[in-house]
Amino acid sequence: MIELDLTTRLASLKLKNPVITASGTCGYGEELKEYLDPDIPGAITVKGLTIKPSVGNPAPRITETPAGILNSIGLENPGLEEFLATKLSVIGKLNVPVLVNISGHSLDDFAFLAEKLAPYPQIAGLEVNVSCPNLAGGGMAFGTDSELVYRVAYRVKENYPGPVIIKLTPNVTDIVEMAEAAVAGGADIISLINTLLAMAIDIDDKRPLLGNTFGGLSGPAIKPVALRMVYQVASRVKIPIIGMGGIMTGRDAIEFILAGASAVAVGTATLIDPGAVARIIEEIKEYMIEKEIKRIKDLIGQAL
Ligand code: FUM
Repeated sequence: MIELDLTTRLASLKLKNPVITASGTCGYGEELKEYLDPDIPGAITVKGLTIKPSVGNPAPRITETPAGILNSIGLENPGLEEFLATKLSVIGKLNVPVLVNISGHSLDDFAFLAEKLAPYPQIAGLEVNVSCPNLAGGGMAFGTDSELVYRVAYRVKENYPGPVIIKLTPNVTDIVEMAEAAVAGGADIISLINTLLAMAIDIDDKRPLLGNTFGGLSGPAIKPVALRMVYQVASRVKIPIIGMGGIMTGRDAIEFILAGASAVAVGTATLIDPGAVARIIEEIKEYMIEKEIKRIKDLIGQAL
């Protein structure tokens, strides 16, 4: 039996394996503990945080599609004050790096959150969400303008000493332009992709099905798009990439790693099977044994 090394690096972060939980799909880590030991993932990314609490968008906020789901949650979250008062102690008990996803309506919002979260060692890094399709006057509006991507990255880096991940949206013409802007602004890591802007219509009511009309499509339907974008970005930028978008199996994860991702994030699969992350890690190991690959790092970017 060969000794497997699943460790990977994301800038200054060392992960014991390359599989991260995607923001918004595992709460604050412990909600899934009945199904997934929170010490198993390589890292945990918690739900998007805004300065003020948010109840999110009107229902219905989620619906199934033939090969994925549409969501328009609208960043429901307790807000910064409540997060610091009640969630920080929860994530402080976890034995894996915890990444906090932050969102805002202005550059100052991002800078403020970065500054307020900077003192807490319980937080291993920030994932900066310039890609949420469900936030009026924020989110994706930043991620579709390369000048704004640059400025958000710059302002967060100015205020936060730890690793900064910029999470990109696929709803752009040129993903490489956005990735390069993030790098120019000082990003340490890029994560991609967030969801694709989409919708569904209720043909009985003759109305958009989601309360917010539009939502973000995730799941297997978007995997080829995500993979293409990871490949394009990895071909052009030198900082590490977290690949995501429709990863359901270990073999899917391997595709992203071969395309240049140093780690992957799993989201929709967890909503179907809360233990998916553990299964995917085991499937990655099976692939490595089958192909006699000792170190996962040796696979990164091999298809480029
Ligand atoms: O609507 C939401 O809470 C989704 C956030 C995101 O996709 O970034």
